[in-house]
Amino acid sequence: MDLRISDEHRQLKDLAHRFTEERIVPHATRWDRDEAIDRDLVPALGDVGFLGLGIDEAYGGSGGDHLAYCLVLEEVARGDSAVRGIISVSLGLVGKTLAKHGTEAQKQRWLPGLCSGRQLGCFGLTEPGTGSDAASLATKAVRDGDDWVITGRKVFITNGTWADVALIFARTGGPGPKGITAFLVPTDSPGFTATEIRGKLGMRGQATAELTLDQVRVGDADRLGDEGGGFKLAMAALDRGRMSVAAGCVGAARGALEVSVRYAKEREQFGKPIAGFQLVQELLADMAVETEAARLLTWRCADLADRGEPFGTEASMAKLYASEAAVRVANNAIQVFGGYGYVDEYPVGKYLRDTRVTTLYEGTSQIQKLLIGRALTGINAFA
Ligand code: CAA
Repeated sequence: MDLRISDEHRQLKDLAHRFTEERIVPHATRWDRDEAIDRDLVPALGDVGFLGLGIDEAYGGSGGDHLAYCLVLEEVARGDSAVRGIISVSLGLVGKTLAKHGTEAQKQRWLPGLCSGRQLGCFGLTEPGTGSDAASLATKAVRDGDDWVITGRKVFITNGTWADVALIFARTGGPGPKGITAFLVPTDSPGFTATEIRGKLGMRGQATAELTLDQVRVGDADRLGDEGGGFKLAMAALDRGRMSVAAGCVGAARGALEVSVRYAKEREQFGKPIAGFQLVQELLADMAVETEAARLLTWRCADLADRGEPFGTEASMAKLYASEAAVRVANNAIQVFGGYGYVDEYPVGKYLRDTRVTTLYEGTSQIQKLLIGRALTGINAFA
């Protein structure tokens, strides 16, 4: 086993580090306060290839494996988890699903725009009444000749108001997972409305929205994958999504640790830097161990994915551990900063607010535990 990354991976990681330092870190506090990043960041992410990772160059992608994707997300999230989330959703949940299951025409139509950052995608699974129990979703798509007419509501949709294409999961058949089909819905379709949800605790730089689909008409050519195959497609997307959330949590935890070490060496109390106090060192040591453990679980998952082996359970493990660890690490960071950590002059409060949602979205920590438990025992708690 060799845990060193290749020269190519190192160069990509360095590029992501420089990009984050230049284009993200100086603005993250303002974006957090304004509840929006500067939108020109998105095409800039496309120009450096971060929105096309893992996608074939023939469709405007920049290639690379899952480890490359995780390395970039770690660096970006170290600067701003909200930006990491924009990439995870547009590329990870939408672009990669399209690249895997789309027809040639669908790939030609959407992937170049998504990879270049001139367009964005959003993932419409969650509904007001169905979060964890995604297979019970109520949005309906009804056949009308060669078209489908979609009606329903989606909530907490990352990129919702900025997206050009929404990957919408809708019921085309009976109850349960087998009645669900996926559609690529252009967001300028008549009857499609996106309303921004403001006042979030964290991830404030990204646009989170409620979507309303009122008799939105799409062609059968906009169906992604088989009729009735939408749920499996969503679950496979979420396996990759959970890995990307884990990678983002590693970055946020690392960022919180780095600023805490720096601050502890500068801040003096009782006539010496607080880094000299053993209880502060304990806080820092716990943060470092948890960050490293989260990274190893994430890389293990990426390695399995890159070998073409199943990685769903490992993605749940990585996401469960990394998200919970990132919250603890960010909380410790506030402890190191004391009162200064409670105001947004320093970034540690933002790390805590941003990471808090990662134990909720793309499957709560409890859902991840039940998935891991199901893999261990063969017993399905959801049945
Ligand atoms: N890959 C491929 N197929 C899968 C799969 C996977 N990872 N997981 C399940 N399936 C298949 C199953 O094999 C099964 O098919 P068969 O009957 O043919 O075998 C079918 O899908 C149904 O699976 P389950 O029986 O597991 O379905 P369930 O209703 O019991 O679902 C669940 C269980 C795991 C709780 C699922 O509903 C779930 O993951 N819930 C959490 C939802 C979630 O993560 N939402 C996140 C929203 S997106 C988001 O947050 C994005 C954002 O904007 C940030």
